[in-house]
Amino acid sequence: MNFVASILFISSSILFFFISTTVAVVAVNGTFSVSDFKAVSNGKVDSTAAFADTWTAACNYTGPTAKFVVPKGAYLVGPVAFSGPCTAKMVIQIDGRIIAPAVLKTMPEKPNNWIMFERLAGMLITGNGSFNGMGADTWPKNKRNGKVFPTNIQFSFINDSTVEGISSIDSRMFHIMVYKCVNLKLTKLTITAPETSPNTDGVHIGLSDGVTITDTAIKTGDDCVSIGPTNSRITVTGVKCGPGHGISVGSLGKYKDDKDVTDILVKTCKFHLTMNGVRIKTWSESFPLICKNYTFDDIIMSSVENPIIIDQQYCPAGNCPKTTSSKVKITDIKFSNIKGTSTLPVAIKLLCSKSNPCTGLSFEKIQLKNKVGGAVANSTCENVVKPTIIGVVKPALNCTTV
Ligand SMILES: *[C@@H]1O[C@H](CO)[C@@H](O)[C@H](O)[C@H]1NC(C)=O
Ligand SMILES: *[C@@H]1O[C@H](CO)[C@@H](O)[C@H](O)[C@H]1NC(C)=O
Ligand SMILES: *[C@@H]1O[C@H](CO)[C@@H](O)[C@H](O)[C@H]1NC(C)=O
Ligand SMILES: *[C@@H]1O[C@H](CO)[C@@H](O)[C@H](O)[C@H]1NC(C)=O
Repeated sequence: MNFVASILFISSSILFFFISTTVAVVAVNGTFSVSDFKAVSNGKVDSTAAFADTWTAACNYTGPTAKFVVPKGAYLVGPVAFSGPCTAKMVIQIDGRIIAPAVLKTMPEKPNNWIMFERLAGMLITGNGSFNGMGADTWPKNKRNGKVFPTNIQFSFINDSTVEGISSIDSRMFHIMVYKCVNLKLTKLTITAPETSPNTDGVHIGLSDGVTITDTAIKTGDDCVSIGPTNSRITVTGVKCGPGHGISVGSLGKYKDDKDVTDILVKTCKFHLTMNGVRIKTWSESFPLICKNYTFDDIIMSSVENPIIIDQQYCPAGNCPKTTSSKVKITDIKFSNIKGTSTLPVAIKLLCSKSNPCTGLSFEKIQLKNKVGGAVANSTCENVVKPTIIGVVKPALNCTTV
């Protein structure tokens, strides 16, 4: 090799090295890490742009799968939307702690969210990182008065996807919102906020089909899981709830567009020190829709105020005329293998609609005691067409059938 040739060789090697390392940094086998896009892992420097840039690169990757990685460390991130459709299937590996700024400027177009995933199919979110909404300073302003604060993590238009392992901490409002999703599985999540934090529902599901929540621990200030209007095939298993307000279907029937909620399974769940256990709630003044085919099975209640409750007389402002009666029809609902303790005397409370009595209710093997002094629990049962009783059901039901 002469001198010129060796210079050329060296410089082309350097050039080659430079190009290959640049490419390698951005995507080894389709892996895109926020740390390669200038995210700072000290939890103090705003890394929002780095997260957005990493997402854009990963979403445009042309291989079959792109991996978006948040390595260990703490990252200060403002509101950000991870939007599809993407060219590749997205695997999102969250090992770090993602932290909201103390003053959260909301997205102008999506003011209700901090972190948002939307329009993706075949997505996987994994890792044991966390999303901390830093909600404490918001809670005193959040008076359960309808004012909306950002959701920690929103999933909109997500199909055939799985979210596993991650945690949601101290959300300003809901922790996780599932909206217009089809076949979304949430598993092994940890959701925590103080009992006193208002409106911090664990998972709220709306307008979705085929959502499952499994093996998840939820301690929060509102419903652990709330299933709103227009949902079908929702399965909740292996959820530990408490503190919190329980697992609820509702409130239903407030808006004209509220549609049926069908095929719900809540199985093998535990409630500890919650306001409610399993609940169906409809507005007393309501539009018509149907609740059909629910099973609540294999449930342990420990110190729960209202372990089993159907409330069709919901009227929080207390201003509904006595003559109003919910147009929501509740039918084909099975409660089985439910045992434990209530903290209020009425362990089973069934307040159905006068104009649309509950039909097809079935109770099998229910053993609920009143925690206070070991007293016998009792029940209320209004506007229920004769329920089916199988095995021992305590407290006994004494229903006024219309
Ligand atoms: C998800 O499924 C719905 C209904 O099947 C469909 O309309 C929508 O385009 C799908 N979205 C994605 C991101 O694949
Ligand atoms: C979760 O975190 C622990 C402790 O940092 C680590 O050892 C483990 O590998 C992580 N698990 C996953 C699935 O990332
Ligand atoms: C009732 O819902 C369950 C899911 O909980 C489902 O497996 C079953 O097929 C539904 N039954 C009917 C008759 O649709
Ligand atoms: C249930 O028991 C409590 C306490 O003994 C009593 O005050 C209440 O009236 C009872 N309610 C019904 C519906 O029997």
